[in-house]
Amino acid sequence: MALLEVEGVSAGYGVAPNILNEVSITVEAGRIYSIIGPNGAGKSTLLKVIAGLLRPRAGRLVFDGATLNGLRPDQILARGLCFIPQDRCLFPEMTVRENLRMGGYLERDRRVVERRMRRVFEIFPELADRGGQQAGTLSGGQQQMAALGRALMVEPKLLMVDEPSLGLAPRVTEQIFATIRTFRELGMSVAMVEQNARRSLECSDWSYVLDLGTKRFEGPADRMLSDPRIHELYLGKRPGGAKAPERGKP
Ligand SMILES: Nc1ncnc2c1ncn2[C@@H]1O[C@H](COP(=O)(O)OP(=O)(O)OP(=O)(O)O)[C@@H](O)[C@H]1O
Ligand SMILES: [Mg+2]
Repeated sequence: MALLEVEGVSAGYGVAPNILNEVSITVEAGRIYSIIGPNGAGKSTLLKVIAGLLRPRAGRLVFDGATLNGLRPDQILARGLCFIPQDRCLFPEMTVRENLRMGGYLERDRRVVERRMRRVFEIFPELADRGGQQAGTLSGGQQQMAALGRALMVEPKLLMVDEPSLGLAPRVTEQIFATIRTFRELGMSVAMVEQNARRSLECSDWSYVLDLGTKRFEGPADRMLSDPRIHELYLGKRPGGAKAPERGKP
């Protein structure tokens, strides 16, 4: 049985027309997914619907055997589905440690929380030195690490992350992608939305391409990387061809 089944989901904001039209995706346990596509395709909207932040107008969401439709975001989180939005949503005035502890709020046993926190500091040694520092004063990369660390404190079955590498230097981006692979080794599934489509495909098992609110392609990420149609439309470069501007970048 799949970990997450999104079946024919349509969604939009307020009374405006649908942004997503009958989108279906599947997430299996212990795999990394990238959701790519041009600006405005509805990628972030899809993550918001799955996380319970936006109600679908049609379709069904099933996670770990239970229907998600109608559940609140906190109930969805409690089932093991964690979402890191694009702005990362750290508490800037709170320290790194306090932010991490917020991620562990569902766990009553303090020893478990402390053990998880030690693991976060093992994965992100840069955070260990900054446990007492206010999150708002961290660099962009460290803030993303803190957001990923806080998600790890939940021990989710599925982590969804919107634009993990946004605004980060290439070296830090590599570090973030390496960590995402570590999460898979810990048994989690990860679904990420990324402007850096090529790099996210390199790091993924499977990919979904969203365009104009519909699923346009899906397949193994390595096959996507070598597919000329995907290159032409979404990666801005044909294999062996001249480089065109990356989509979504000036
Ligand atoms: N809160 C909102 N209220 C109204 N419309 C919205 C809202 N959020 C997004 N939209 C619209 O929904 C469409 C899809 O947006 P979404 O953010 O899901 O796209 P995306 O694929 O994540 O794009 P990007 O690559 O730019 O992040 C856009 O036309 C956007 O203007
Ligand atoms: Mg987006």
